[in-house]
Amino acid sequence: MVGFSVLSVLLFFATCHLAFAFIDGPLSNGNFELAPRSTDLNGTIVLKSHAIPKWQISGFVEYIKAGQKQGDMLLVVPEGYAAVRLGNEASIKQFINVTKGMYYSLTFSAARTCAQDEMLNISVAPDFGVLPIQTLYSSNGWDSYAWAFRAIYTVAEILIHNPGVEEDPACGPLIDSIAIRTLYPPKATRDNLLKNGDFEEGPYIFPNTSWGVLIPPNIEDDNSPLPAWMVESLKAVKYLDKAHFSVPHGQRAVELVGGKESAIAQVARTIIGKTYQLFFAVGDASNSCEGSMIVEAFAGRDTVKIPYESKGKGGYKRAVLRFVATATRTRIMFLSTYYHMRSDDFSSLCGPVVDDVKLLSVRRPRRLV
Ligand SMILES: *[C@@H]1O[C@H](CO)[C@@H](O)[C@H](O)[C@H]1NC(C)=O
Ligand SMILES: *[C@@H]1O[C@H](CO)[C@@H](O)[C@H](O)[C@H]1NC(C)=O
Ligand SMILES: *[C@@H]1O[C@H](CO)[C@@H](O)[C@H](O)[C@H]1NC(C)=O
Ligand SMILES: *[C@@H]1O[C@H](CO)[C@@H](O)[C@H](O)[C@H]1NC(C)=O
Repeated sequence: MVGFSVLSVLLFFATCHLAFAFIDGPLSNGNFELAPRSTDLNGTIVLKSHAIPKWQISGFVEYIKAGQKQGDMLLVVPEGYAAVRLGNEASIKQFINVTKGMYYSLTFSAARTCAQDEMLNISVAPDFGVLPIQTLYSSNGWDSYAWAFRAIYTVAEILIHNPGVEEDPACGPLIDSIAIRTLYPPKATRDNLLKNGDFEEGPYIFPNTSWGVLIPPNIEDDNSPLPAWMVESLKAVKYLDKAHFSVPHGQRAVELVGGKESAIAQVARTIIGKTYQLFFAVGDASNSCEGSMIVEAFAGRDTVKIPYESKGKGGYKRAVLRFVATATRTRIMFLSTYYHMRSDDFSSLCGPVVDDVKLLSVRRPRRLV
């Protein structure tokens, strides 16, 4: 029976993928490797709105090749050999076919080029999110960001806009590698009252990037790229893949990179007076993030602090928070007590990893008559 239902779920998804004729991954020329014709460029400046294959641009957009210099700074391109830079008020866009009503997550890589705080406004009408990109999380200057939307039309106009107005037009973020992934919002089951507790459902991670994907706080994003979870407070959390990090369970996990300024939360249905256990794993991502860490877990008003000594080489421990529900909805939340920096570069934020979160009600032992 179980085997059969797993099979039918697999078949269901297989048919869906065929029906949508939509493959998760980079957008057409999403990494900008197809270059404009040389006659459509003046130096690096793109002269025509359709010059970059598959994209439409507006405003001051530069086509940047790896190894190019800006002043004394060597510009690094995260994937392949080309990226674009958006000047003041410049934008790039592309139309893609989507399924009405479905949720999608976009992932893109961006780097700031000047000292100023820079932002990107990413939108798929009527949704938009203004993502700050001033905080460096990765040492090479590039970070990948996720932003999710719900398709309300069958065609989505993906627009990335730099709303900045800097004095120097050569300032403005670099963008590379734009990809999309369909999200399948998971459901709570008898084995877990939380949805997506193992964080397996989430944004696209580029197979070739080794720095994970930042999930910005919900204030910048109405739809979570990490289905069922909300990123609360001010800073992002980082979504990690097993290919590049140590992940306690399954293929994906979340790294709490923002200390108390970033938390992940989910509201679970509970029964007042019933006892529950919240199980979870706390570890490190094997990314040279060393030191004494503490993960704080909350379930409504109850809380527990789980210390974890990280040597930065991977590993995890299991923890549990037992509580009695005082409401029909209980907020489950995790945050890191401290900030941490990677010991290999002393510039990028890192933190403890949380994974494999399960919420179960405690069954009363049956009384023997
Ligand atoms: C190319 O840029 C230079 C300097 O910015 C400018 O003088 C020249 O007119 C531009 N050429 C074209 C074809 O736009
Ligand atoms: C969207 O689908 C239509 C057919 O329904 C097709 O003509 C068009 O080329 C597709 N557009 C893209 C961007 O794939
Ligand atoms: C971001 O883009 C949306 C849609 O294009 C627009 O309505 C909004 O005003 C923009 N916000 C900023 C800060 O540029
Ligand atoms: C990923 O890296 C491999 C080897 O380094 C390379 O062959 C491949 O083209 C890269 N893929 C992308 C999408 O850049």
